[in-house]
Amino acid sequence: MKSDRESGHGAGQRTRFDPVNPYWASFLDQAGLDMTGARGDGCYIETADGRALLDCLAGFGTANLGHAHPALLARFGEALQRTSLNVFPFECADAQRALAEKLLALSSRRYQKVFFATTGAEAVESAVKFAMTSTQRSDVVSFRGSFHGLSMFSSFVTGNPFWTEALPWKPGNVHHVDAANFAALEDVLSSRKVAAVVFEPVAGSSSAQHWTADTSARLAALCRATGTKLIADEVYCGLGRTGTWFGIDAIGTNGVATAAPDMIVVSKGLTGGLVPLSAVLMNDGDFDAVFGAPGKAKVQGSTFGGNRLAIHCGLIVLDLVEHGRLVENAAAMGALIGERIGERFGSRLTLHGQGLALSVALDPQLDISMTDVWLDLIDCGVLAMPNSASPDSLRLSPPLIFGMNEVEVLIDGLDEALQE
Ligand SMILES: Cc1ncc(COP(=O)(O)O)c(C=O)c1O
Repeated sequence: MKSDRESGHGAGQRTRFDPVNPYWASFLDQAGLDMTGARGDGCYIETADGRALLDCLAGFGTANLGHAHPALLARFGEALQRTSLNVFPFECADAQRALAEKLLALSSRRYQKVFFATTGAEAVESAVKFAMTSTQRSDVVSFRGSFHGLSMFSSFVTGNPFWTEALPWKPGNVHHVDAANFAALEDVLSSRKVAAVVFEPVAGSSSAQHWTADTSARLAALCRATGTKLIADEVYCGLGRTGTWFGIDAIGTNGVATAAPDMIVVSKGLTGGLVPLSAVLMNDGDFDAVFGAPGKAKVQGSTFGGNRLAIHCGLIVLDLVEHGRLVENAAAMGALIGERIGERFGSRLTLHGQGLALSVALDPQLDISMTDVWLDLIDCGVLAMPNSASPDSLRLSPPLIFGMNEVEVLIDGLDEALQE
């Protein structure tokens, strides 16, 4: 491991970040990363100082088509030129309808309505609002270690006090339980005050939770029995990343009709990282509970929620993902990474996740810190990131266009990083 990491960017970084958030500078300094002026091409990023990095982060899972995808840029450029200065609902109902139909079709018509928003947090909060209005209940349950966003309410739904400990106000209606603790879950749901349970079928920033066909079916059954809405937060894992269109299908709930969540929230991969867009898929009943009374058509929404540019981008991205067979590719490359990690590292590294929603954890017996592995990996030309909720594991969320060559570069990088 290298002990003295000289990025050579320190002072410049700090000045550059000053009016925004100078504290980011030290984080980037630690990693020796100066992304200013970096250019992307496919699965690679070239930094201004000419270093090539294999991007195994892909904008925290947003850049599912990689960087500078030629067809995406060409088609998005055309859409941009056609765009008038306006926001929903006045001029893009057809495009919204087309994207909603596409999402509903991908969900095998398990849902009938789509609510568009801008960010993941906004969509998670919207889903909770739909659930609360529909059930007329006040409380929410989520899982320890989970991540659901950092807007006011979503940061409390996020199951890690790190994000909220500085706030002098706390809502009294959010309960966090351990994912494996069904007794605790049953206890809190039996109060029948809980409107929704929010869960990540395949977790992003935490590698601690592993839902399976059995545990997710049990969770869904418990929700159904207590009249609680089940919300799958697939902001990170949805839309192909897990090797299936939805994370719930990757963990095996597909064949179990009763295990389907009441709502699915998607965002990051929906526009390939170009523009913010999020969506909540749900049934008519929960949708109508919010909008279905006279004068209520605009009771929930936001200025840029489902704007024309974002919607067109979503249509183009889903088309390219589908026709490029990238969901299948994510499944195949995820399996290959699993195989290669097993062969090369044995028990030294354990891989968690599905498809290309992955994280690797070190054998706790090894006297190595994941932070050092992360930093050495960057020196070896591979960009990944320790998970915020479990820093002893490293998140791998590469573009869905990841190929066999990239898998080998990643494995060689890990090998070198573990040896240094
Ligand atoms: C599972 C999950 N939910 C919600 C969010 C919040 O999304 P956003 O940052 O777009 O608000 C994230 C973001 O990382 C996420 O991974």
